[in-house]
Amino acid sequence: MADKGGKTMRLDRFLAEMGEGTRTQIRDMAKNGRIAVNGVIEKKADRKIDPEAAQVTVDGRPVLYAEFEYYMLNKPQGVVSATEDRLHTTVVELIAERKRGDLFPVGRLDIDTEGLLLITNDGDLAHRLLSPKRHVDKQYLAVVDGTLPADAAWIFKEGIVLEDGTKTLPAELVRAGDVALPDEERTAGPFGEARSDSGAGDHTAWILTIREGKFHQVKRMFEALGCRVTYLKRLSMGNLKLDESLKPGEYRPLTEAEIRVLKEG
Ligand code: URA
Repeated sequence: MADKGGKTMRLDRFLAEMGEGTRTQIRDMAKNGRIAVNGVIEKKADRKIDPEAAQVTVDGRPVLYAEFEYYMLNKPQGVVSATEDRLHTTVVELIAERKRGDLFPVGRLDIDTEGLLLITNDGDLAHRLLSPKRHVDKQYLAVVDGTLPADAAWIFKEGIVLEDGTKTLPAELVRAGDVALPDEERTAGPFGEARSDSGAGDHTAWILTIREGKFHQVKRMFEALGCRVTYLKRLSMGNLKLDESLKPGEYRPLTEAEIRVLKEG
């Protein structure tokens, strides 16, 4: 981040923030003549630059500055909501066009959950969206196996006591039978579950809106009523809605309007 109120920052910090290496690595790169500022080789990594105006290159490759980045990802199944993982691809690795090295997912979706995930380096925004005090709405499409009681919507509204004795905040449950589900939600997924839309067999589709983010919350809420979630997709978070043109695994930068509205919300 640029110094508050000033226009300059150290070259090594600039390059470290843009994911070009550690400060030590960057100092070595500078000593070896690999870094240029405004077309001139710069060997002093602690030199101050204007991050918005300076043309910085590493090995002749331009490094563009972005203080904050915001991406909407349609998280696919099989990818983990983390910044690093030894076994699985992470959601951050899916953002091929990222500039910064400090992006992270805002909250977590389970490995087998799809849908909206915000990827950013804006810690203040993440904090506001995730703060338990703010009760930001999160809306999910859930396909469940089993039969919910007739008064399930009322039970969800009253708050559900989970298996560990904690009670959830009021949540809104509506049948998704009236919404046309895209093919991907009807057919068997990579996790081998037979899925169908509302009404077919034992599987029914629901739209659930919750206002908190307990561990595996949606799955545990349905489990408390004797049903198993076989497919889960997040549709929205606060006033940010998943762009349905994004297929699982695809992403796009947020628009200026989306960023503004998210910050205001
Ligand atoms: N609730 C869950 O059970 N899983 C998720 O991934 C998100 C919410």
